[in-house]
Amino acid sequence: MRYLGKRVVITGVPGVGKTTVINGTIEALGNEGVVYTSINFGTFMFDIASREGLVTDRDEMRKLDQDVQRRVQRLAAQGIARIEGNIIVDTHCTVRTPAGFLAGLPEWVLRELKPDIFVLVETDEDQILNRRLSDESRVRDREGYVGIRDHQQFNRSIAASYAMLSGCTVKIILNADFLLDNAVADMADVLR
Ligand code: AP5
Repeated sequence: MRYLGKRVVITGVPGVGKTTVINGTIEALGNEGVVYTSINFGTFMFDIASREGLVTDRDEMRKLDQDVQRRVQRLAAQGIARIEGNIIVDTHCTVRTPAGFLAGLPEWVLRELKPDIFVLVETDEDQILNRRLSDESRVRDREGYVGIRDHQQFNRSIAASYAMLSGCTVKIILNADFLLDNAVADMADVLR
């Protein structure tokens, strides 16, 4: 079954500012009468995992057993697939787990979500590091410049495989310090 509306998946390493860019874009497009709903994949997973008593905090999810993460991931994808209209799915290209990078959209998730466009939000590693350090609301993994660089590079490789598997396009959006407006304008161009 094919759903009505555009389905855009937005990813980026933790703290790159993807949620901030999404919120700005939804507001900008809303002023033009273009309506998108933002769906946070992590929130869907957290609702399932917390109902099952597996976690009490969203930052605990990436530490769960690999099989459990995959099961919860699949359930979240199935729930999101039922949502109609233009949607933006705020998620991760890959999740850094103790066992290595976990694909955020393995084949069974792609099959459910059927994305039209896959977006990678990126910026310089030192900016991401600073943003993580200033965000006291989250329990971020302690990671340096090299770790963040490797994660961003790995995400580009995996994004190529998502394009091959699903036929979606891949768009890279830069969300640099003091230039949030540019990132929002680029994202709005993708979504119009
Ligand atoms: P999630 O909640 O998506 O975690 P996250 O990546 O940490 O997302 P955030 O929303 O906290 O970061 P962000 O990059 O959006 O940054 P923000 O806009 O807040 O996911 C939680 C968990 O769910 C994951 O850890 C994983 O376990 C699980 N999960 C999710 N999807 C999954 C999947 N597909 N498969 C398996 N597991 C999955 O911005 C950060 C800061 O930067 C803010 O202070 C902001 O003000 C600032 N900022 C933003 N833009 C700028 C700018 N241009 N200039 C200056 N400052 C800026």
